[in-house]
Amino acid sequence: MSDIKQLARETVQALTPYLSARRIGGKGDVWLNANEAPDCSEYQLDSKKLNRYPEFQPPALINAYADYSLLKKNQILATRGADESIEILIRTFCEPGSDSILICPPTYGMYAISAETCGVTVEQVALDSHFDVDYLAVEQAVNHPTSQVKIVFLCAPNNPTGNMLDKQKLVKLLQATKGKALIVADEAYIEFSPQLSQVDLIAQHGNLVITRTLSKAFALAAIRCGFTLAQESVIQMLSKVIAPYPVPQPTAQIATQALSENGLAVMKDRVHTLNNNRQLLQTALKSLDCVTEIFPTTGNFVLVRFKDSAKVFAAFANDGIIMRDFASKPRLENCIRITIGSKAEMESTLTTLNSL
Ligand SMILES: Cc1ncc(COP(=O)(O)O)c(C=O)c1O
Repeated sequence: MSDIKQLARETVQALTPYLSARRIGGKGDVWLNANEAPDCSEYQLDSKKLNRYPEFQPPALINAYADYSLLKKNQILATRGADESIEILIRTFCEPGSDSILICPPTYGMYAISAETCGVTVEQVALDSHFDVDYLAVEQAVNHPTSQVKIVFLCAPNNPTGNMLDKQKLVKLLQATKGKALIVADEAYIEFSPQLSQVDLIAQHGNLVITRTLSKAFALAAIRCGFTLAQESVIQMLSKVIAPYPVPQPTAQIATQALSENGLAVMKDRVHTLNNNRQLLQTALKSLDCVTEIFPTTGNFVLVRFKDSAKVFAAFANDGIIMRDFASKPRLENCIRITIGSKAEMESTLTTLNSL
């Protein structure tokens, strides 16, 4: 082992890092592997005062998100993407070496990676046979006498299976785990089905946390801007741990414009277009012989099971279409996740599939 590797923490030496879409890479012009938006807007940027550190939580940004989310300013923390929210939650609430988080696989990979890098154990309660959360099993795991679970991560729409949460069952879980654990609902894709948000539950439930991002429906993955939403007491704890200047000033400027009346109208328009494109794709997929299962979804992606996903993936790669392969994940054999892109990108996707 090299000297430097030996110097690293043992958990880091053993860690397999999260392979983001950009790290995996791929050659082609059609990028459908990271659930990004296919279009982008232009923004004004004032670069005159970049010698000064930014505000800890830029007031214009927090005001704009408070108006958008219908929450109070003290119930919001802006972060460098939702990924930072996940990490800060773990670093704030889980004691390394003794506490754990609970995840419901198959789900977004960063919950487990963030926990591992913090020396926090990961417990699992698998999604049920319909890929829905097994609420009773989660409750039992958290309330088990020896449980050290401090945070439960639920993802809705779940990446990659698309499932949503059941509000009544979530409320029961929140009540049953009060004082024991935080329940985090990751709403990275909620703009594609805003009526299914759990944000209205924050007023009543001190142990509910919601994470959000501007990377998806707002088409701003490059600026790294996310939000943690919860009652003030949670936000205050997180504010002790987060970096001193978490939101770069150019990010705050752009994000504030994206949350303006005009910015929100553009986002809603995009959502409308992408939801239509998703419908077109889903309908066309139904008639294809190579498809065996189309997972239900309300996000800007759809998980599809093929007869032979390796063949399909190779055909996409050959045509310069980059997709996300889930075939090696447990229970997702032969599955590929397709990001909903522009109409032209959906047509290219279907042309490849039709050629098989
Ligand atoms: C479910 C989920 N949560 C969080 C994130 C991270 O979002 P951000 O770009 O804001 O870090 C992603 C990104 O793909 C995601 O799919």
